[in-house]
Amino acid sequence: MALQFSPLHPLFAAEVHGLDLRSTPGPEVCAEIDRGMDRYGVLVFRDQALDDDQQMAFGQALGPLEQDRGVVDVHKNRLKHHNMADISNLDLDGSLLAADDRRRMFNLGNRLWHSDSSFKKTPAKYSMLHGRVVPPDGADTEFADMRAAWDALAPAMQRKLLPLQTWHSLIYSRAKLGFVEYTDEERARFAPVPQRMVRFHPGSGRRSLYLSSHIGRIEGMQVPEAMALLRDLEEHATQRSFVYAHKWRLHDLVMWDNRSLLHRARAFEDTVHKRDMRRVTLTDCAPTLEQRAG
Ligand code: OGA
Ligand code: MN
Repeated sequence: MALQFSPLHPLFAAEVHGLDLRSTPGPEVCAEIDRGMDRYGVLVFRDQALDDDQQMAFGQALGPLEQDRGVVDVHKNRLKHHNMADISNLDLDGSLLAADDRRRMFNLGNRLWHSDSSFKKTPAKYSMLHGRVVPPDGADTEFADMRAAWDALAPAMQRKLLPLQTWHSLIYSRAKLGFVEYTDEERARFAPVPQRMVRFHPGSGRRSLYLSSHIGRIEGMQVPEAMALLRDLEEHATQRSFVYAHKWRLHDLVMWDNRSLLHRARAFEDTVHKRDMRRVTLTDCAPTLEQRAG
């Protein structure tokens, strides 16, 4: 079966036609999806009325799933599968989270450009986000192509960045929004991990800039100098020509490659309208420092 891809942006991102994901695809279709991901980085599957089990089964068909979620108040879990991420603004009973709910404050971190689970030793490969309840306005998800961002850097900057090692933690990203209160257990679970600044993507043979709001230090660099460099890099890497903004429709399934893209959530009236999105996340094969650099 040949899948059809229609590009959504000049550089990356495509819509996939001809699949009903309620039946889990076999290995050949999964291999085509992987090739599409290597090329496009973001794939959009429209009109997929999936339940949790079907979404999990699709993830499992593509590769091993992440086992734990990087969240606070981890015991307050609304979903049936412990490793499905709840990307909603809903409480356990399905009502809107209160404006001052700690989980809402923490989740606002998704509004910063990031790569999923870059704060884990072995970070995320693909994320698959499914729209179950979509609010009427706003709440786009934006993606930025870090391969294009790398290619557009001056050679001297590329040489400077290539050997660098960064430190990532949820504590660093949330501190950027002023969220600083943790239990001892959360502090231990969110301890910083090292990653490469520049990655090599085996499926496309391309290098990419591995940025994320979770970065709070660069090894061997003074913190203000590192943070100033990271701001410049993020500004370069998220210029509009590198960004695809996804406008959600009900039952879209959007899959992205965290190895080569950044993404962020955009604002909406989240104390007025419900948004129920659920994410299945594939784990990468190893910590980035154990993967080849190019
Ligand atoms: C995520 C995420 C953005 C959004 O699911 O990992 O960052 O728009 N989502 O909800
Ligand atoms: Mn995310």
